[in-house]
Amino acid sequence: MKETALRERIFVALDLANEQALRDLLSQLDPKPLKVKIGYQLVYALGLARVFALLAELVPEAQVFLDLKLHDIPNTMAEGVQALKQYHQLGLKYLSVHASAGREALLRSQDATGGLFDLAAVSVLTSLEGSEYTAVFGSESSPEEKVLALAALVSSCGIGHLVCSGQELGRLRLACPSLVPITPGIRGGGVAVLGDDQRRSYTPREALGLSGGYLVIGRPIYGAADPCVAWRDLLV
Ligand code: C5P
Repeated sequence: MKETALRERIFVALDLANEQALRDLLSQLDPKPLKVKIGYQLVYALGLARVFALLAELVPEAQVFLDLKLHDIPNTMAEGVQALKQYHQLGLKYLSVHASAGREALLRSQDATGGLFDLAAVSVLTSLEGSEYTAVFGSESSPEEKVLALAALVSSCGIGHLVCSGQELGRLRLACPSLVPITPGIRGGGVAVLGDDQRRSYTPREALGLSGGYLVIGRPIYGAADPCVAWRDLLV
């Protein structure tokens, strides 16, 4: 796959908590990412308007995935989504919500986008497995079964993107071929993370081989001794 084609399929997670760290990282990355994911740590630290102004300055071409992981009652979620429409002209392209918020919340949130940006529904967090998983979701279904059930719900609500781990990509493709997967928890392939909290993880090549969608990669890039080298290595 060509470098540009790969860059279009990787969201660089900018999980940084201050402006200088963001400036430092984005000044190092060459070529510039075409897709960036903004977590709520930066949004809470700087405010959303400042974050979008910085991105317009530092990576003007990039599509922005705002990873706010909304999870609330339908009215609150829909009003939250509605309030984000103003950022569409500043590059907002994807917004995350939790699939487990339920059908009405998903339908109303999708409606509230007005088609200006896409929702990405989070299925089961990639950090959950074993007893951590069953404590939240019970023991009746495996993570994969739960992801597939949530995928069916998300798809039936007209939402086009699902956040899931690499482990579910194969079956997801068969069960819900129209859903575009977004896969975090990318590890290995020459990248290592100290004190890692990701569990259901995959290497970039494995995940891209299984996925017709996108990857999210954070610490393997911004936590590397040389982020630019780590980023370039991912693109070869
Ligand atoms: O640093 P790392 O590559 O693990 O970053 C993964 C990113 O993807 C983080 O920003 C995390 O919040 C996000 N994410 C995740 N699992 C999900 C949804 C989002 O790891 N299910």
